[in-house]
Amino acid sequence: MSAKKIGVIGSGLIGRSFAMLFASAGYKVVIFDIEPAQTRAAKEDIREQLASLEKNGLLKGSLSRQQQFDNISTTENLEECVKNAFFIQECVPERLDIKRKVWAQVDKLVGDDVILSSSTSALLPSAISEGLTHKNRFIISHPTNPPFYCPAIEVVPAGWTDPDVIEKTFTVLKESGLVPVLIKKEVPGFVLNRIQYAIIGECYRLIKDGVVSPEDCDTIMSQGLGLRYAFMGPWETGYLNAEGMLSYGERYADMILDIQKSFGPPERIEGPTLQAIHASMERLAGPVQDIQKRRQWRDKRLIALAKLKRDLDAE
Ligand code: NAI
Repeated sequence: MSAKKIGVIGSGLIGRSFAMLFASAGYKVVIFDIEPAQTRAAKEDIREQLASLEKNGLLKGSLSRQQQFDNISTTENLEECVKNAFFIQECVPERLDIKRKVWAQVDKLVGDDVILSSSTSALLPSAISEGLTHKNRFIISHPTNPPFYCPAIEVVPAGWTDPDVIEKTFTVLKESGLVPVLIKKEVPGFVLNRIQYAIIGECYRLIKDGVVSPEDCDTIMSQGLGLRYAFMGPWETGYLNAEGMLSYGERYADMILDIQKSFGPPERIEGPTLQAIHASMERLAGPVQDIQKRRQWRDKRLIALAKLKRDLDAE
């Protein structure tokens, strides 16, 4: 078990999750946030989250809840957070100016072997790191929310990232119970959000064109496609739906192409269609003021699914 140090910058939703994941692998995690009150709240929240994970039998790694908690400390000083850390995970708000500013500060405080990893959802690694002295050590590790129950994480190097940074990032993430996937070229939205936005785009069009209601559209995902996708992706789905991929192509390629040609150009989601979707979701998921209740409903199901997948994988 390693006792190497990881610095986490930003202690919001994602910073807290990363801190817990790294601590579960035995790393000593030091969290910094520009708002000291945020780090204090983070520590309390992490204590509660670890207790809930233990209760549900979902603690990662082999350390006890207390050992994992003790691996996490906080600081009000950026230098203390990054000094002697071999890996730094930045989790500050999704704004290029803020990310660049934070990384410019860190750049001056670190040595040549460090790994500089950003949680950004959509900013390109080259755009964040182009001005850094250590830009060859920069990479993106973009988690899926909530990272404790959705372990896939996109790893996106820039063209100038050293190969050993990719390899070592994979090691740290795997040790922390995540499932890293290499995104070989930097493209807007990486892969997860490109797929997600393709789905949103088509669902929006189908509702706008009066083909299906928002509730029924969600039902097709939650009671249909989504059930398979919890266990396999579109390619394995196709492979199993025919006698392998080539037979799938023979049977369905023309139909897929014809239907794809009927898709319209991208549209901004807005106006009366968006209002109608909102009203449907209020009926389905409850009013916005009670949204926390529905989030708990969601997390309960994600926890149960994570347990089921773990048990099935162990068979
Ligand atoms: P958040 O708003 O919950 O937390 C951001 C934290 O950064 C706050 O505690 C804030 O005080 C702190 N901060 C702001 N400026 C700072 C600075 N200069 N130095 C140090 N700390 C600073 O944001 P969240 O949701 O945790 O997102 C963080 C990153 O993770 C973003 O890039 C976001 O796109 C990405 N991400 C978010 C996901 C989500 O579902 N929330 C999923 C995957 C990635």
